[in-house]
Amino acid sequence: MGTYEQTTIPAFCLLIFLTALILSPVNAAEDKPPAYSKKGADTCLKCHDEDNEYPVLPIFRTGHGESNDSRSPMAILQCETCHGPAGNHPKRVREGEVRPPIRTFGKNVWTPLPEQNAVCLRCHDDTPRINWHGGVHETESVGCADCHQVHSRHDPMADAGNQIEKCSQCHLRQKAEFSRRSSHPVRFKQLRCSDCHNPHGTFNDKLIKTDSKIDLCLRCHAEKRGPVLWPHAPVVEDCTICHYAHGSIQAALLKKRPPLLCQQCHNNAGHPSTLYTGDGLPAGNIASQRKFLLGKSCLNCHSQVHGSNHPSGVKLMR
Ligand code: HEC
Ligand code: HEC
Ligand code: HEC
Ligand code: HEC
Ligand code: HEC
Ligand code: HEC
Ligand code: HEC
Ligand code: HEC
Ligand code: HEC
Ligand code: HEC
Repeated sequence: MGTYEQTTIPAFCLLIFLTALILSPVNAAEDKPPAYSKKGADTCLKCHDEDNEYPVLPIFRTGHGESNDSRSPMAILQCETCHGPAGNHPKRVREGEVRPPIRTFGKNVWTPLPEQNAVCLRCHDDTPRINWHGGVHETESVGCADCHQVHSRHDPMADAGNQIEKCSQCHLRQKAEFSRRSSHPVRFKQLRCSDCHNPHGTFNDKLIKTDSKIDLCLRCHAEKRGPVLWPHAPVVEDCTICHYAHGSIQAALLKKRPPLLCQQCHNNAGHPSTLYTGDGLPAGNIASQRKFLLGKSCLNCHSQVHGSNHPSGVKLMR
């Protein structure tokens, strides 16, 4: 949690108080910078109450509504900690007059996106968001409020089910990938996008949480971690040589079905095919090749694709 410049707050409040004194409400000039309301949230809640179309009140049931927590907006300038000095916005407007605007958040609003994000980052510039600036979401003009909902009791990002819905609004293809025959159980809410990604930005490609893709996979699939006696070169290098991270139409998230998967690297011409004719399959070039491709194909014999710890597992057969 970054600290809101604590020491400046009392001075800041004093300044506002003085400003408020000088600019008495009656003759506040339009061209002066807008002032903060004297009564904080009470001013706003006169109009933005439970009858309001937009549900403002649930914020009081979140960390942002904790007036007893000195770090919370409600302990500082309340609504205006985020929405900025309201100026004449809370005043009564005459017929035909437009209510002066106030800073707001989201898409298609007048407040520029960098200004919106800066408000949140004043308090949330801690480790998870250390790479926000320059991260792909920041550079693609995605804002904090595109993912988070501060006026809701349940921020959609905290909950696995809501997270996939929200992310999929922009990442439809990924949602489809998670519906494939074999997939990481994100749609069953056993995993969240943020178990693998840090959407705030990372040093790494594709917003991956870890330094490398293999480290990511091994976090949860520790049994595939080496060293083993007979490692299989691609497994030590990068799991995603053979597996998709999201979902696949092949079993076990595989990018291709064996033998095609294996034959990308292993030219079957070099295989000792003529040695094995005792299994009832007809001998001869074409048929014997078929024998190496039947059923689970290569895996029938080379079952230890991830490497072997058996003394005679050099060919990954046991
Ligand atoms: C006298 C009633 C009144 C008071 C008091 C009031 N508002 Fe509003 N506010 C409105 C109305 C009405 C709208 C709808 C937009 C409009 O008519 O311009 C609105 C809109 C807003 C919006 C959306 C702005 C936008 O551009 O979409 C925000 C945010 C907001 N108010 C925050 C506040 C805050 C914070 C306070 C307290 C400092 C406050 N309001 C006090 C009446 C009020
Ligand atoms: C932590 C920062 C924060 C605080 C504190 C906060 N708001 Fe908001 N407010 C937002 C954000 C962000 C949105 C955009 C929608 C969302 O995220 O839920 C918003 C949306 C709104 C809207 C709807 C704006 C629209 O575009 O229609 C109103 C009205 C509003 N806030 C009023 C208030 C009032 C009144 C208070 C004090 C009781 C308050 N807000 C406190 C951040 C804040
Ligand atoms: C004045 C400081 C302050 C500002 C400004 C602020 N926050 Fe917070 N935020 C907090 C505090 C305090 C908490 C509660 C942290 C805790 O309980 O550990 C919090 C919690 C959160 C959480 C976690 C909610 C949860 O349910 O776990 C999110 C998400 C969040 N803030 C997003 C935002 C966004 C988005 C904005 C800008 C619209 C914003 N914050 C502005 C102080 C702030
Ligand atoms: C692309 C979606 C997305 C955007 C944009 C985004 N967040 Fe988040 N945020 C998340 C997700 C997902 C989590 C949950 C992470 C977790 O639980 O591991 C989260 C968690 C948080 C939390 C609570 C846990 C923590 O990491 O401290 C805070 C605070 C927060 N975000 C603030 C922000 C702020 C500030 C911004 C804008 C600068 C922002 N977020 C932009 C998706 C997003
Ligand atoms: C099990 C870990 C994991 C989960 C869960 C996960 N991802 Fe990914 N994601 C990855 C990895 C690893 C990559 C990089 C793939 C590559 O480089 O081959 C990636 C890549 C991406 C990309 C870049 C484009 C692409 O498809 O390569 C997007 C966008 C993405 N993920 C979004 C999401 C969303 C949205 C969710 C949740 C619905 C999600 N991811 C859940 C691991 C995961
Ligand atoms: C408002 C739209 C929006 C939302 C919501 C959103 N993203 Fe993105 N995201 C983008 C855009 C735009 C890009 C850049 C183009 C692309 O790669 O699709 C991007 C890129 C990414 C990338 C790929 C990074 C790369 O280097 O290629 C990942 C991973 C990602 N988002 C994950 C997530 C996750 C996880 C969530 C939900 C927590 C999420 N996004 C929510 C718009 C969004
Ligand atoms: C956050 C934890 C987590 C991470 C990180 C993770 N996985 Fe998984 N993985 C799971 C879970 C949970 C399952 C489902 C296990 C089950 O159903 O028994 C799974 C299942 C699998 C399966 C079997 C799928 C099937 O249909 O049989 C494969 C293959 C797999 N993961 C590969 C990977 C790869 C490759 C990576 C890295 C890109 C990775 N995993 C990262 C948690 C994770
Ligand atoms: C050379 C290709 C290849 C690479 C690289 C690879 N795998 Fe696999 N993986 C497979 C094949 C083939 C299967 C299917 C095995 C079967 O059907 O018996 C599989 C199955 C799995 C499964 C599900 C069944 C099981 O054994 O638990 C998991 C989990 C898995 N791999 C994780 C990983 C992880 C983690 C990595 C990286 C450390 C990795 N794989 C790298 C080929 C590969
Ligand atoms: C990305 C390329 C790649 C893929 C895909 C791949 N391998 Fe390998 N495999 C290698 C490399 C490189 C070696 C090490 C060769 C060496 O040491 O001469 C190897 C070694 C082997 C060995 C041991 C060979 C020996 O001489 O000791 C077997 C058996 C093997 N792979 C089977 C498979 C099977 C079965 C698949 C499919 C599930 C597969 N490989 C997929 C690259 C790959
Ligand atoms: C019927 C069992 C069987 C099947 C099926 C099989 N292999 Fe083999 N493979 C072997 C045996 C046995 C050896 C060891 C031969 C030796 O030691 O001379 C071997 C050796 C290898 C080697 C090491 C090459 C060498 O010259 O030692 C590779 C690579 C290999 N197989 C890949 C594959 C691939 C790829 C497939 C699927 C297209 C496959 N194998 C299917 C039994 C099989």
